[in-house]
Amino acid sequence: MNIEEISQKLGWLPPSIARFIERRVKKVPAIKKIIDAENQKTMQVLEHSLKPYDGKFKKHPTLPPAGMEHETILHQIQEMHDIESVRWKEGYVSGGIYHGDREHIEFLNKVYALQSQSNPLHSDLFPSATKFEAEIVSMVANMHGRGKTTDDAAVVGTVTSGGTESILCAMKSYRDRALEEKGIREPEMIVPVTAHAAFDKASQYFRIKQVKIPVTENYTVDVNAAKSAINNNTVVMVGSAPSFPHGSFDSIKELSAIALKNKIGFHTDCCLGGFVVPFAEKLGYDVPVVDFRNPGVTSMSVDTHKYGYAAKGTSVVLYRTEELRHYQFYTTTEWPGGLYFSPTLAGSRPGALSAACWAAMLAMGEEGYLKATDAILKTAAKIRAGIQQIPDLKMMGQPLWIIALGSDSLNIYQVLDQMTNRHWNLNGLHKPACFHLALTLRHTQAGVAERFLSDLQESVAYVKAHPGEKEGMAPVYGMAASLPFRGMVSDILKRYLDVVYKV
Ligand SMILES: Cc1ncc(COP(=O)(O)O)c(C=O)c1O
Repeated sequence: MNIEEISQKLGWLPPSIARFIERRVKKVPAIKKIIDAENQKTMQVLEHSLKPYDGKFKKHPTLPPAGMEHETILHQIQEMHDIESVRWKEGYVSGGIYHGDREHIEFLNKVYALQSQSNPLHSDLFPSATKFEAEIVSMVANMHGRGKTTDDAAVVGTVTSGGTESILCAMKSYRDRALEEKGIREPEMIVPVTAHAAFDKASQYFRIKQVKIPVTENYTVDVNAAKSAINNNTVVMVGSAPSFPHGSFDSIKELSAIALKNKIGFHTDCCLGGFVVPFAEKLGYDVPVVDFRNPGVTSMSVDTHKYGYAAKGTSVVLYRTEELRHYQFYTTTEWPGGLYFSPTLAGSRPGALSAACWAAMLAMGEEGYLKATDAILKTAAKIRAGIQQIPDLKMMGQPLWIIALGSDSLNIYQVLDQMTNRHWNLNGLHKPACFHLALTLRHTQAGVAERFLSDLQESVAYVKAHPGEKEGMAPVYGMAASLPFRGMVSDILKRYLDVVYKV
């Protein structure tokens, strides 16, 4: 018997019972053997895809005895870049690289090179970094309702390293505010099941109990269930605009009004939508208001390194008030190293990335973002219309530019495998089984939408003709989604990270 058969036999189990059984069965030698064999099989599939350079490039497990020639090092990096960039340049990748035009990248690289020694921690040495970051936050705040609120909200924020850090910072702020102002020692956050994993990370790191709220058939959070989950320990409620898995917009207006009435915080996770929604609204697309114009919205996460077209490594967390932002800031007055303070989780930070972010925003300007948004939304409409012509597929919810696909008649992971065989790099999702394409500027290039649709048609036709085929990642996804023993799945992920750091 293998793991898949075991999970089929067990069917679905309540999580607490599954954990109880898992702890016991893991110790039974015969079962341990099956698990080890299964883990090894999975690792072989993963290791193969993770370490394609084994045998191609010399390994360096220790420092070279003498420094190598710059040219030799650059040559190797160039070679890897050339191999890796083909797929994203040609528009085969979901999300990941959001702009990608050569001229834009070369411009950001020049800015990075000029600022590579900058560290915003030393604002006395690098006042340029302070200027860049203050202006990035200000530009983003103005895009998201500053100056248009009924309470004349300040809307302030900080630059962080990415969406995850923006979310971690916001959740920490709510936890600390609740302790200071309300004496809440067992804080809780109300989070849609579809909200990004960063909220789960915040829950684990900062010991905030997460109350997960299911979504409706549209993949938007169940508002009544969210409302019912509020109690005296609730510090914040969360909504996505849109969500990573299905690109759906939670009802920010209703949810934030409920939060306001109950005197709790409300965070709009606009990591994906932050540089699309404001411009879509200006262009007349039917998008909801998800920002500080809703009086209950008290914080937002907006990723500059996604549709803001900055280089990887920046995001913005916004707060309605300076008072709330103060709970994010770290200060210590007793350290022998001197008075120390920093706005985010890191200490030293790459000022060059803030410079590149600032430069990207100036280079794009409002006109550039409007054009980019229009191109993405028009291409997405074309792709959605094409998908509707494929009867075996269904779109999850009512997507705009992040399009998740499932199927009632086919194994959708086999379709995903077939798309992978045709060079696509799409995101496999589960609960329920589906995968998505997050459209970026790469997909607006001539012919990419048409190629996606014809590859999708071919993939579906192949799976219909070979329904029982069990190759590639489909069994791994299937097993990971269905196995009631979640600890085992978690162990596999940890082993995966072990492989990442294996030389
Ligand atoms: C909606 C949403 N929130 C948060 C994040 C986390 O962002 P990052 O990967 O930059 O940490 C993502 C990433 O895709 C996202 O889609």
